[in-house]
Amino acid sequence: MITEEQVIESLETVLVPAVNRSIVGMNLVRGVTTTDKEVSVTLASTGLIPGAQDWISTKAKEAIKKLPEVNDVKVEYSDVKAMDLNEIDHIIAVMSGKGGVGKSLVSSLLAVALRRKGYEVGILDADITGPSIPKMFGLIDRPSGSETGILPVLSSSGVEIMSINLLLPNEDDAVIWRGPLIGNTIKQFGEEVLWGKLDYLIVDLPPGTADAPLTLMQSFPVSGVVVVFTPQDLVEMIVRKAVNMARKMDKRVLGVVENMSYLYVPEIDKKIEIFGRSRGEEMARATDAPLLGQLPIDPELAKLCDEGGIESYDGEIVAKLGDSLIKAMSAEDN
Ligand SMILES: Nc1ncnc2c1ncn2[C@@H]1O[C@H](COP(=O)(O)OP(=O)(O)OP(=O)(O)O)[C@@H](O)[C@H]1O
Ligand SMILES: [Mg+2]
Repeated sequence: MITEEQVIESLETVLVPAVNRSIVGMNLVRGVTTTDKEVSVTLASTGLIPGAQDWISTKAKEAIKKLPEVNDVKVEYSDVKAMDLNEIDHIIAVMSGKGGVGKSLVSSLLAVALRRKGYEVGILDADITGPSIPKMFGLIDRPSGSETGILPVLSSSGVEIMSINLLLPNEDDAVIWRGPLIGNTIKQFGEEVLWGKLDYLIVDLPPGTADAPLTLMQSFPVSGVVVVFTPQDLVEMIVRKAVNMARKMDKRVLGVVENMSYLYVPEIDKKIEIFGRSRGEEMARATDAPLLGQLPIDPELAKLCDEGGIESYDGEIVAKLGDSLIKAMSAEDN
């Protein structure tokens, strides 16, 4: 008789339409029973329109029938809430004391770095009024979903992405919402988006220390916070404020990242500190958090952000950023 493990392995090949991630990865497989005669599978219908349910059902039956000695396959659906299906190991919030320091870029690069290491990664663009993640990843597809859940959009390297920008009728529409509505939207992203099984969910927060970061930290089990700053942040206080806010909410500060730290000029093989002396180490000391990385000003980065090609950035800083994040996570775990 075939085992439950064999059935689940065969279901790894069945992809959720539009997301293109397996029904196992999306955590839609709720139960498997096998007898001599029959394999019976229960799937969650979360976020799936009837057409998608039929399609998955057909594909699941085909996949299971390829296993030896299977005569009959039954697929049933049950209603489960998206939030009950989400199994996210680490939620990492990316913050900054002020706007325009490269928070979205750092969020994207962290996700790219972790994905390259083989992790299952998602990005929640919680910057409701200034969403920029879809643009950096070149996403144009709208998320699909049903009354029971919204499905994220998968980037070309396989990062799950959800942003208000993907849901608006026109991506240039300005979102002028009052605080409570923003808070509700962020909460909904946690409750109604089907992320499935993820190793890491990176949350790109709006700048500053106002309501939205608070709501997020209250309503999501955030495991750690990364704070981004630039050498232009003359006042250490702005960065410290962000760090203090995280600590006050009992969130671990995994580290700080200095963006636009220097410009590398290959012709003279020198790093030039355009925006003044790098304050990476100093800021790390002042906030008592490790310095996770210092990103150069790189015209290639700006170009890729604009063109939606952030995943093809091959600067060595990407891997370094991922390594130091993982190191900080494991240090904190102890
Ligand atoms: N290190 C860098 N090298 C080159 N360009 C950069 C760098 N960092 C940021 N940029 C450019 O600055 C733009 C803004 O960065 P980003 O969107 O990440 O900032 P942000 O902190 O998220 O801003 P906001 O506060 O508006 O959300 C990027 O689209 C990119 O073009
Ligand atoms: Mg941003």
